[in-house]
Parts: sequence; structure tokens; C-alpha cells
Amino acid sequence: MIQEEFAQILSFYQGRGAASDQNELVALLRETQELYGGVIPQHALDEIARVLGFRETFLPAVLRRYPSIKTEAVRHSLTVCQGPSCGRRRELLDFLSREYGVEPGGVAPAGFRLQTGGCMKNCGKGPCVRWDGVVHTGMTPDALRALIEKK
Ligand code: FES
Repeated sequence: MIQEEFAQILSFYQGRGAASDQNELVALLRETQELYGGVIPQHALDEIARVLGFRETFLPAVLRRYPSIKTEAVRHSLTVCQGPSCGRRRELLDFLSREYGVEPGGVAPAGFRLQTGGCMKNCGKGPCVRWDGVVHTGMTPDALRALIEKK
């Protein structure tokens, strides 16, 4: 039932040019989010991309600009060290909030879960983060962006 409704919504916005008109695409994403109770499931995103002919990277890039549109896709995990010897850790969290619309404990529309954690045993080389289980040292906002966008 919900699948039929989703197919109708998708077809409606396809007819309105959502493949090339970003306003229509965002309206489609918002309506899909509402239909699924506040979070767009991955299969719906995949279907939107398939029907509208988007490259794999296109929708995540759009979603990054609309943090209020939530998806369930969590492909990566990011932990920012909050140990006392890692300086500038607040700067990284502020950057993540500003650029990726995510706070500790939340999931970024770009597809990663953000957490904070204790000392990562690389204090002399901080600030440190753990990305999918691997510690990265000397992080700056630019280095963090590179890590996230690399995927
Ligand atoms: S305090 Fe961050 S690695 Fe030790």
C-alpha cells in the first residue's frame, strides 16, 4: 500500500520535471519523507535515483544541502575524540553541525553517524577522529571533509 502511494508520488513529480528541477525534486523528497513517517528509507532513495536517472553521488549531494530531509542510510561511523589532550575538538563538531547538519548522536544526511568518544591514544597528534574504526590524526575541517566525501 505504502509502496503504491510512493510510486504515485514519484510518478507525479517525475511528470513535473523532478529529474532536472531541484524544487520539484526537493518537494518529492519531502513528501516521501512524510509518507514514510519522517525518514526516507534507502530503497525509496534508490528508486528515486533509478527512475529519475541520477548518478549514485547526486542525491547524497542534494541531501547534504537539506539537513531537515532525513534518510536512514548510515554507511559510515565517525567519532570525534573529546579527550582532554585533543585541542580544537569543538571546532570539528561546529564544522560538522554547520556543514553536515549533524550533532553528536545523530545521523548526517550524508550517511554517517556522529559520536563523541574518549582518548584515542594519539594525543600528541590531535585532534583525532575515528572513521569506520580507523583513527585519523591532525584533523582539520578540510581533512574531515575529504574523509567524508571520499566515502
Ligand atoms: S585526547 Fe584525543 S587522542 Fe588522546
